[in-house]
Amino acid sequence: MPSPPLLEVKDLYVQFPTPKGVVNAVSGVSFTVAPGETVAIVGESGSGKSVSSLAVMGLLGTGRIADGSVLLRGEELVGTDPERLRELRGTEMAMIFQNPMTSLDPLFTIGDQLVEAMRAHRRISRREARARALELLREVGLPDPERRIRSYPHELSGGQQQRVMIAIALACEPALLIADEPTTALDVTVEAQILDLLRRMQRDHGTALLLITHDMAVVAEMADRVVVMYAGQVVEQGPVREVLRSPSNPYTRALIDSIPLPTTPRDRPMPAIGGSVPTITEMPPGCRFHPRCPSVQDRCAREAPPLREVGAGRASRCWLHETAGAALGGEVRRAG
Ligand SMILES: Nc1ncnc2c1ncn2[C@@H]1O[C@H](COP(=O)(O)OP(=O)(O)O)[C@@H](O)[C@H]1O
Ligand SMILES: [Mg+2]
Repeated sequence: MPSPPLLEVKDLYVQFPTPKGVVNAVSGVSFTVAPGETVAIVGESGSGKSVSSLAVMGLLGTGRIADGSVLLRGEELVGTDPERLRELRGTEMAMIFQNPMTSLDPLFTIGDQLVEAMRAHRRISRREARARALELLREVGLPDPERRIRSYPHELSGGQQQRVMIAIALACEPALLIADEPTTALDVTVEAQILDLLRRMQRDHGTALLLITHDMAVVAEMADRVVVMYAGQVVEQGPVREVLRSPSNPYTRALIDSIPLPTTPRDRPMPAIGGSVPTITEMPPGCRFHPRCPSVQDRCAREAPPLREVGAGRASRCWLHETAGAALGGEVRRAG
């Protein structure tokens, strides 16, 4: 029996005011994260990954949840009061971002920021918090933590700053950690170290991880399940190994094809997907991917395909599933 979800996002719509009126940045997104599980949300820039995760955290700024539900351990977060959300952010869920400098306060030492994070939500003496801070910095592999605890953020490298952010996120022992492109700003060696750290943290603390990335290679390495997003919608989801082996959706296939193989010569250009993600004010009619889709049919420009079950725990949004067997090498199964 799979455990009941820690996080359940159901039919989420998020709107932003724009000069062209109010528009949906995210339209009907649903996914779950079980305790201790790693779920990746993958898609190109502009797909709605960050907006979806900020909605969970209650950090949408000018945006608002227009419809849908966000349940954390069964508790409805949509419409709950900001005070309760703040409390949950310090205890049950935490988030780290692509650029740690936007979250770290340049005016305070990293020790002070860690101590603050702990004392904001727990009765713990300054002295105890300091000791725990040192422990956490050691745990996230910051070199020379006794000295570094007195450093200011700008005195650390990008990779070290991200380690500090992970320490701050873990300080309140959250059940859910959301990491939004945590390694996108780092070089590949440091990226590997940070991903390794996240994996270890998760193993040691049993934290569930919602990992946001544009990179299928990161998904392959890290996640149990994957949610593929395009233009504000989920277009495919399922267990990572199955989805990678036999993607149901042409967009997923394109993302997989853009992973460079170890054997790919460095000088060969990556087979990128032509065109780009439509902006929220100019969504194409029908299937939102149809203008870029290699498998496009007449119907795709007129009618929007539904998200359909295509196997156990798997779903995909594509008209190809109606013409069974024709899809993507024939591995696609019909629902029911
Ligand atoms: N504050 C905002 N105001 C207006 N539109 C926004 C805002 N934030 C995000 N969007 C739009 O919502 C869509 C999804 O954005 P985002 O979730 O940041 O994408 P991703 O994280 O997948 O790159 C994009 O079209 C983006 O332009
Ligand atoms: Mg983003």
